[in-house]
Amino acid sequence: MIQLKNEKEIEGIRESGKYLKELFVELSGRIMAGMSTFEVDKIAFEYMKKHKCGAPCLGYYDYPAATCVSVNDTVIHGIPSKKIILKEGDLVSVDITLEKNGFISDSTHTYEIGNVSEDVHLLNVRTEKALYIGIEKAGESGARLHDIAYAIESYINQFGYGIVREYCGHGVGFEMHEDPLIYNYVSPQNTNSKLKKGMVFCIEPMINMGTHKIKELDDGWTVKTADGKPACHWEHTVALTNSGIEILT
Ligand code: MF3
Ligand code: CO
Ligand code: CO
Repeated sequence: MIQLKNEKEIEGIRESGKYLKELFVELSGRIMAGMSTFEVDKIAFEYMKKHKCGAPCLGYYDYPAATCVSVNDTVIHGIPSKKIILKEGDLVSVDITLEKNGFISDSTHTYEIGNVSEDVHLLNVRTEKALYIGIEKAGESGARLHDIAYAIESYINQFGYGIVREYCGHGVGFEMHEDPLIYNYVSPQNTNSKLKKGMVFCIEPMINMGTHKIKELDDGWTVKTADGKPACHWEHTVALTNSGIEILT
């Protein structure tokens, strides 16, 4: 069931998103080679505590951290670790879900550590661009879920990249994961409902440089590309209001 949000509720999620956006600005200035992914998580968790925000990921199905930090061939759900040390040339996705006064926002930024190779940089730029193409499509009047998916898929396909199929975007706001699912590719099996005012959801393309296929590690979380090539992930929480689409993160 899709839980539509009224203006007051959207204001609450906007406030949550404001903190999350600030957190990414802080991270962009601090993330660097030599730092472990555990330290990246620590910066985020300390920020959340300092600003009296909750970390819904922590303890979610026993997930052990506040954030997911996914390096290079890790697509999503990288568990922060003291053993994973960032180095020049790495591509690092930081996925953070934040709660403020009961309202939840969710966003992912991918950072380049120092100079990355040209093909990795392009993967990053194009994945972020795919997110914005999806957001723009969602703001068009009468847009349906398939329109978002088609816009992302057709943009990404021209580069020969793989679009991860097992994971997708979702409604958000009261809980971390609400209906509907927001797919990044078109399939007749996926629901194609019309977007409605009051919907708040995450669009989050997960794009692999090589095959779309993934593998899940024995830790029960880490998702890697099947071919070991790099992957990228960008995510925003958006709201559909009377004045159109608004990015809340
Ligand atoms: N933030 C993720 C999403 O975009 C989910 C986090 S999984 C968790 O849907 F285990 F970290 F909670
Ligand atoms: Co997320
Ligand atoms: Co999400």
